[in-house]
Amino acid sequence: MSSLSRNFTKLMTVLIGVLIFLIVLSVMLGKSVNAAETSFPVPVSINALMVTLIDHSAHYIWDYGSMEREISADEWRTVQYYAIQLAGSGPLITLGGSGPLDKGWAASPQWTELSKKMSDGAMLALGAATSKDKAKLASAGDAVLDSCEGCHEIFKLELPTEGLTHMPDYDFLYHLFRTEP
Ligand code: HEC
Repeated sequence: MSSLSRNFTKLMTVLIGVLIFLIVLSVMLGKSVNAAETSFPVPVSINALMVTLIDHSAHYIWDYGSMEREISADEWRTVQYYAIQLAGSGPLITLGGSGPLDKGWAASPQWTELSKKMSDGAMLALGAATSKDKAKLASAGDAVLDSCEGCHEIFKLELPTEGLTHMPDYDFLYHLFRTEP
C-alpha cells in the first residue's frame, strides 16, 4: 500500500470515529434535555403526602358526608376544594416519592388501580358537592374509604416508614374543622 493511501485510511478512520462520537453525544444530550423538560422526581414521600394531603382532604369528605344538619353553601365549596385535592393526589402517588419503599410501591399495577379508585371516589364527591347532594357525598365517602383500606391492606407496613402519622404529627390541621360547636 502506498503511504498516501495508508494516510487516507488513517484519516477516514479518525473521521468516522469522531462522527460516531458526535452522534452518541447528541443522542445523550437530547435525552437529558427531554427528561428535564417533561418530568422530575416527586421530592416528598408517600408517607408525608398521606398524612398532610390525602388523609386531610378525605376527612373533610367524610366529616361533611356524615353531618346531621344541612351543609351550607360555603361548606359545599369546602367539600369541593378538598375533593379536588384528593382527586389530584391519586395520579400524584403513582409517580412514587422520596420514601424508601415509594418507588417499588408505585411500580405495582395494584397500586395504580387503587390510586385510581381513590381519585374516582373523590370525583364522585366533587360531583356530589356540585349538585349539593348529601346522600351522594356519603356514598362517595364510602368509595374513597374502600380505596384507602384496600391499599393499606396490601402495601402499608405496621409502622410508617418515616414515622409520620395523622396523630399527633399533623392533628392540628383537623382542629381547623373543629371550630364549630
Ligand atoms: C395506593 C395505595 C394507597 C391508597 C389509595 C391510600 N393509602 Fe394511605 N398509605 C399507603 C401506604 C403504603 C402507606 C405507608 C407509607 C409509609 O409507611 O411510608 C400509607 C400511609 C398512610 C397514613 C400514615 C401512616 C399511618 O399509619 O397513619 C395515613 C394517615 C393514610 N395512609 C391515610 C390514607 C387515607 C385516608 C386514604 C384514602 C383517602 C389512603 N391513605 C389511601 C398507601 C395508600
